[in-house]
Amino acid sequence: MTFHLSWACVIICCIFASLAKTFNISDMYPPLWKKSPGQFSDYKIENGKYIINFWHYPERLGMYKILLNKTAKYFAKFSPENEQNILWGLPIHHGWQYHTGRLADPTQSTDCGLKSGDHLCISVDSWWADLNYYLSAMPFLAAIDSGIMGISSDNVTFLPPSKDQMNFCYSVSNCQSSFPEAMKKWNEFYQHIKSHSSSFDDLLEYLWAAHVSSLEVAHKNFQNRLKYYSKQEADFARSWALFVDYLAPPCFPTTLIRTYEFQKELPRRMLVSGDKVPFISDFSGFQNIMLFALNLLHKVHTYTDSVE
Ligand SMILES: *[C@@H]1O[C@H](CO)[C@@H](O)[C@H](O)[C@H]1NC(C)=O
Ligand SMILES: *[C@@H]1O[C@H](CO)[C@@H](O)[C@H](O)[C@H]1NC(C)=O
Ligand SMILES: *[C@@H]1O[C@H](CO)[C@@H](O)[C@H](O)[C@H]1NC(C)=O
Repeated sequence: MTFHLSWACVIICCIFASLAKTFNISDMYPPLWKKSPGQFSDYKIENGKYIINFWHYPERLGMYKILLNKTAKYFAKFSPENEQNILWGLPIHHGWQYHTGRLADPTQSTDCGLKSGDHLCISVDSWWADLNYYLSAMPFLAAIDSGIMGISSDNVTFLPPSKDQMNFCYSVSNCQSSFPEAMKKWNEFYQHIKSHSSSFDDLLEYLWAAHVSSLEVAHKNFQNRLKYYSKQEADFARSWALFVDYLAPPCFPTTLIRTYEFQKELPRRMLVSGDKVPFISDFSGFQNIMLFALNLLHKVHTYTDSVE
């Protein structure tokens, strides 16, 4: 395990070593960031509750936007422009899922998420979208519960997807009873955000603990989605899950610039059955190497686990 960890850190360090010097922060925002809701009053209200549709890209993204806005003051001591807010990792990654087509319906039985169809739709059959649900709904509702968002816990509810409703949760109380452990970890993270004595590294540690806790449940619930993908995409999804779950956390500060730079090296589209890693012609050399390294890490991990 130690060996794997250091290897994962090598991958991350290679990318950070290549960081350019000048940045325009607003160029790094996820697609449609500026057009997405930025405050609660931008959402629909029914019976005194804000109704949020997490299966519509701008609405899910808008919730991240509010979260980043409301937590900005706690990160101001680390950098200007909220750049060091470690919650940036979540929306930046979600933006990548969107523009690479990973939120679309992989069964192709609907036009949900297709560029030529209902392009803002997020499909409940997408493995990427389902995992991200646990990394958006939970951090968001826990933030409300911890008092950071400035609204009461009973004032927000999410619309259910078209199927598998039992695998998701929709409000603060509902998520707490369905996923108590993950919700507790997110709440702890926010308690530490609010505390003046927390260092950047402390916060990163609590964030990753919550992140891993959300994904632990998500993996179990959505394993069955991988059958909709090409072998290449499913392998990448498994490798990626291993990477973010167990290997990357200790050395990955999920700030705006770092996540953005890292993400540029991830596959820019869904992988299809003809793709031969690391020789995919429309990927850069670095993107090919990255994919190769992630897959290799997964193979070695699976192999050593099975012989131990
Ligand atoms: C950064 O980009 C935004 C939008 O693309 C633009 O309006 C702004 O002038 C740019 N800022 C700098 C410093 O280049
Ligand atoms: C939120 O909850 C309070 C009571 O806690 C209520 O008065 C208010 O109308 C609710 N709705 C909105 C949209 O703020
Ligand atoms: C948060 O959003 C409000 C309202 O849209 C805006 O006035 C404020 O400048 C934002 N704060 C930060 C830190 O982005």
